Amino acid sequence: DGKGAIGETLLNWYDTHARVMPWRVSPADRAEGERPDPYRVWLSEVMLQQTTVAAVRDYFRRFTERWPDVGELAAAEDGDVMAEWAGLGYYARARNLLKCARVVADEMDGRFPESAAELQKLPGIGPYTSAAIAAIAYDEPVAVVDGNVERVVSRLFSVDTPLPGAKAELTDLTAQITPEDRPGDFAQAMMDLGATICTPRNPACGICPLIDSCTARAAGIAETLPRKAPK
Ligand code: ADE
Repeated sequence: DGKGAIGETLLNWYDTHARVMPWRVSPADRAEGERPDPYRVWLSEVMLQQTTVAAVRDYFRRFTERWPDVGELAAAEDGDVMAEWAGLGYYARARNLLKCARVVADEMDGRFPESAAELQKLPGIGPYTSAAIAAIAYDEPVAVVDGNVERVVSRLFSVDTPLPGAKAELTDLTAQITPEDRPGDFAQAMMDLGATICTPRNPACGICPLIDSCTARAAGIAETLPRKAPK
């Protein structure tokens, strides 16, 4: 059906167009059986909460070089972690990062919980981050909805309810197109599509793998979505 076709089409696109990021396993390595490291997925998703991919890259490299696993990070001095975080902003994230590392190291034998519901109980891990980690690290087929995904989905289905009110509707639609197979790759493909093709202004519909499924493009209204409630 139409909704199933979106997942398959987007995963095929991702296999050849995925952006290379230091916390990702390439589709080729993934096909060889390599799995993403939950520690690296968690660390990257916390860093990416309010910060761009470009800004996060070098911080992620320095953190993982200095603290290669959650046990090492848990044992770090608070001041060393805060100093390594300096420049990323939103410092509550760094304090929660350390708290979370210590809970996982001390109470969970260094293993992150494997479901979104359990992950969300940890410090600093909200609805978005828990879904992202569960999908990417453990292939739980949950909807992962960040700003890029909101834009892609609102356009695919011409959702004209303004944000933030449209959030639940967009999450439900994202769940409907999330495949059982490779939900983490699907989530990251949606983010890549939103960041590189389905952009806020001048979306590159001519090279979009989902053009045939996009109702907003067909109606000529892609660039007007998502709508935002006036502040
Ligand atoms: N933004 C937040 N998480 C991301 C990811 N895993 N890939 C690309 N962009 C992201």
